[in-house]
Amino acid sequence: MTNIFNRFALIVCIFFSCVLLSACGIVAATATDTNAIYQNKALHSPDGIGKFYQGREIAKVMGHTEALWLERPSREVEEQPQKLVDALNLQPTDVIADIGAGTGYLSFKIAKKIPLGKVFAVDIQPEMLDIIEFLKQENNITNVEPILGTINNPNLPENSIDLAIMVDAYHELSHPYEVMEKIVKALKPNGRVVLVEYRRENPFIAIKALHKMTQKQAIKEMSAVGLQWLKTKSFLPSQHIIIFGES
Ligand SMILES: C[S@@+](CC[C@H](N)C(=O)[O-])C[C@H]1O[C@@H](n2cnc3c(N)ncnc32)[C@H](O)[C@@H]1O
Repeated sequence: MTNIFNRFALIVCIFFSCVLLSACGIVAATATDTNAIYQNKALHSPDGIGKFYQGREIAKVMGHTEALWLERPSREVEEQPQKLVDALNLQPTDVIADIGAGTGYLSFKIAKKIPLGKVFAVDIQPEMLDIIEFLKQENNITNVEPILGTINNPNLPENSIDLAIMVDAYHELSHPYEVMEKIVKALKPNGRVVLVEYRRENPFIAIKALHKMTQKQAIKEMSAVGLQWLKTKSFLPSQHIIIFGES
């Protein structure tokens, strides 16, 4: 009788151990499951990657074959990038990260404002970095440093930058949460993050919806990594300049 009881107790014990272990496995799987941050949907915009963050579908990355579009002469008039750079109130010694730098169109304008500082021009496409390197040599510019990032890491040193700027780039980061977390770590105390995006609030701005962003959405996504909205400048023809600092 005691023997039967012991066997029964052992079986019960094994059963509950299994339940406990599989429960742990489920918890571990949930913790590493990026779906907690992102959702993937089969039905989505042809301009997006089917991955959603905070209710927004992430746009497809602009390929390096479209580099000439970023350098189009009409951009000066259409976007007035010099006004944007002037509005950043940069100090000559500032260290700036231009994330999603593309051909360095903005990096080189910023570099002129910070003769004693430097611009980290970060992109995930090596072909874009080759263009930056070429333009750097061609124009004898020494304070722009191209950096090859990955989809979830801009590879910036911690506590190294006064300001991170993303011009028409944030909406196409496939891992916005991870990238922003790293950017926050790279900020010096009182550092700022600037998003420049086409104003999605305005339906008359003739840019694909996923390539525009509302101020409300930007504030929601930045608050997820502890960034606080400081101010928005809306004097550019089609984009807003949304400025954040650490809360
Ligand atoms: C539309 S282009 C804008 C380029 C530049 N900011 C400009 O305004 O001329 C966006 C760039 O972001 C880059 N990009 C996309 N995801 C990125 C990421 N996770 N980290 C860094 N760059 C990224 C793309 O490779 C592309 O060059």
